[in-house]
Amino acid sequence: MSQSTRVISPNVEIMPVSAKTNAQGHLIIGGCDTVELAKQFGTPLYVVDEETVRASANAFQAGLSLYKKSRPLYAGKAFLCTAMCHLIRKLGFGLDVVSEGELYTAVKAGFPADLTYLHGNNKSEKELEAALAYKGVKIVIDSDGEVELLASIARRMKARASILIRVTPGVEPDTHEHIKTGQHNSKFGIPLDHLEETVAVILKYPDVLELIGLHAHIGSQSHDLGPFLELIDIMADRFAFLKEKYGIELTQLDVGGGLGIAYTEADRPTPIYDWAASVAAKVAEAFSQRNMELPELFVEPGRSMIGTAGVTLYRAGHTKDIDGEASCLSVDGGMADNPRPITYQAKYTTCVANRMNEPPATKPVSLVGRYCESGDIIVKEAYLSAQRGDLIAVFGTGAYNYSMASNYNRTTRPACVLVYDSKAEVIIARETNDDLVRQDRTPERLL
Ligand code: LLP
Repeated sequence: MSQSTRVISPNVEIMPVSAKTNAQGHLIIGGCDTVELAKQFGTPLYVVDEETVRASANAFQAGLSLYKKSRPLYAGKAFLCTAMCHLIRKLGFGLDVVSEGELYTAVKAGFPADLTYLHGNNKSEKELEAALAYKGVKIVIDSDGEVELLASIARRMKARASILIRVTPGVEPDTHEHIKTGQHNSKFGIPLDHLEETVAVILKYPDVLELIGLHAHIGSQSHDLGPFLELIDIMADRFAFLKEKYGIELTQLDVGGGLGIAYTEADRPTPIYDWAASVAAKVAEAFSQRNMELPELFVEPGRSMIGTAGVTLYRAGHTKDIDGEASCLSVDGGMADNPRPITYQAKYTTCVANRMNEPPATKPVSLVGRYCESGDIIVKEAYLSAQRGDLIAVFGTGAYNYSMASNYNRTTRPACVLVYDSKAEVIIARETNDDLVRQDRTPERLL
């Protein structure tokens, strides 16, 4: 049996790896009955299956294992909280952060600074200061202006920064326009034909800046391997060029994240293991072909680490019959807890979690949210036969759901529970109405 058939790659599945149905027809995740979870913690509820996160991490590590100097970094923007920092640390991952808040979360969790990478196309002075103060954080440079700013802050703080340059490689993955980042007109990164100029700016500050590597991220929810392999050749060329022309020996190559997951049966993403093994093999080949020493290799998965692990539970509300047909089923959440359908026309798979053994409906209903927008549709055509009070599960909501959630219509963000080994533990508490008014201030004259 080949390694890829033995290593589970959760990103090709729709449900978490621990999903089962019990004798009463209830959906079980991480050994926990979702009907009980909804009773105990309320709905909407984000459920995160630790076993799926572990299996995804294992698939990345196993795929990368043939490349000695490699490490996956988890892209915190997909879903971050202190528990997640601790979990990915245990799994041997580093962390990619993109804001002061994400960095603060990492610091609070005691995440090792030297395994933390700060990204962003417009990092603030405060963010750069925070990164330098947490000594050892690597900073991924996104513009010449940022080099100048970082150098002046580092001099003031008497600190030294290890930096990578994010390049725009001109490679386009197969994904939605809004989540492509590697194309020439991207707002992210330094165009390849500008790289030399950026290096020249960095070389003005040898006392405070140390250039250690190059980074690229071509986009997100990409199913194909091809663009990633293409990217690696482009990056290896840049490593060779900088060595030849400037004698700069870069030691870190970060090829970003972007591997997709299966949201519906129609999605066929490359399995995590195959993706990681192919990326590792390609880097080894590309650098050997150019007679270059192998750099440390980093990958930055977000969605493929956490997406499949997440399930959102909603309580079914009213149905609306149009022309005698049940055409709408409302639930108690929607675009505020999952803005992906309205933002990217994202598709999801859903089921009735308390009646798993019943056959699916023969006619579709529109699964709609509770928010005051006509576009608040979670699944356009869901084959659900559900009534008010049933529990609806939506799969694949672990990534970019909680992290993009809002308080639209002054609703509270749901709780998040981590399930593992038949235990359910809150890792983010449900917001309360008091949280909603906490930052409100009323001018005296209005009272
Ligand atoms: N590294 C960098 C520099 C990134 O910008 C991203 C994602 C990642 C890694 C992780 O990519 P992933 O493995 O998760 O595809 N909100 C959108 C996705 C935006 C992705 C932004 N950058 C969505 O819900 O589809």
